Amino acid sequence: MKYSLINLLKHIEYLYPNLFIGCLALKEFLAYRIFESNGRSSGRLEKISSVDLGINDLFVKVEYSAINYKDALAATGQAQIAKKFPLIGGIDLIGTVLESKTDKFRDGEKIIVTGSGLSETLNGGYSEYAQIDSDLAFLIPESISTRLAAGIGTAGFTAALAIYKMKINKQKFSNEKIIVTGATGGVGSFAILLLNKALSEVIAVSSKNNCINYLDSLGVKDIINPSDIKDNESLLEKALWHGAIDNIGGDILSWLTRTVRPHGNIASIGLASSHDLNTNVMPLILRGINILGISTNINRKISEDLWKDIFCNLTNDDIEKVITRETSLKDLSNHFDRYITGNNYGRTIIKIS
Ligand SMILES: NC(=O)c1ccc[n+]([C@@H]2O[C@H](COP(=O)([O-])OP(=O)(O)OC[C@H]3O[C@@H](n4cnc5c(N)ncnc54)[C@H](OP(=O)(O)O)[C@@H]3O)[C@@H](O)[C@H]2O)c1
Repeated sequence: MKYSLINLLKHIEYLYPNLFIGCLALKEFLAYRIFESNGRSSGRLEKISSVDLGINDLFVKVEYSAINYKDALAATGQAQIAKKFPLIGGIDLIGTVLESKTDKFRDGEKIIVTGSGLSETLNGGYSEYAQIDSDLAFLIPESISTRLAAGIGTAGFTAALAIYKMKINKQKFSNEKIIVTGATGGVGSFAILLLNKALSEVIAVSSKNNCINYLDSLGVKDIINPSDIKDNESLLEKALWHGAIDNIGGDILSWLTRTVRPHGNIASIGLASSHDLNTNVMPLILRGINILGISTNINRKISEDLWKDIFCNLTNDDIEKVITRETSLKDLSNHFDRYITGNNYGRTIIKIS
């Protein structure tokens, strides 16, 4: 049989798959990429090669990713998350280092990358292989599987960051009533777990009547349906909560500002319901409440410490409770709509390889 050079190399690669690690240009693999057409983005599964990944100091075999609200927005074009095209989606990336060109990580170590521009300006985790800047990666301890690390992902990290910022701002947590909105979502679920570890009494705000058992299993003391919250025109209402973690914005966030007790903190994380915030200054100037903005773009040392705390504080059973679905790269696109309509609960992880 006659071999062209490329076929010969492909044949060698087939026989010795590790031989071309780091310059895997010949191998094709699956990735879910975001494209733009007529000003709107959409995603699709494709075969790509390592040439499409660019070059970085960590070459990674991706094992898991996950679906976050932002991933659903990016893939369905509901918001322009990706800033360049085509770009591999997925803001969570968990895998094994195949080749490290830095002292910071060794071949074979397990790493996690969350946020950090993935699926915005950098290729994300919806791909069988990745080239990663080691400055964005964090080591997963041996006691945590890549599956469980994916369960935590951006959602768990963001919940931990909110609690960290509230703590810096003198929130005690122990024996305090802390209210969590968007409670059945990924961030909400981890906020509940972590607040329980801090001995808070957690009140969930959730529109899902079918998730009472789920929220109970996470350890909430009470559940409020947003439809039961009366729209009150008062500038201040009865002060009920020592603090709040808000994932949805809009009218509920506005209500939180009027019902948090003096000097309490509201961590504003998300906008799943609305990006609006209509309130007044009375809660600020009469009760001294604090609205803390949560952005995961923080310095590396803080992130490193937070990851250590998260891995240390959450048990495998805790994390398994929040992993409500596992799917594959091939089936990924069937799962985004549930996030857009707010009908998902817990975390969907993607088994990549
Ligand atoms: N600031 C940051 O750095 C950062 C990081 C991560 C996430 N976020 C943001 O935080 C929010 C939560 O993220 P997530 O990953 O937890 O999302 P998720 O898993 O999709 O959960 C969002 C939850 O919000 C509630 N919700 C209420 N109204 C909704 C609506 N109109 N559409 C969709 N959901 C609605 C639902 O919970 P219930 O039915 O229980 O009410 C839903 O499960 C998102 O806005 C996300 O973009 C921000």
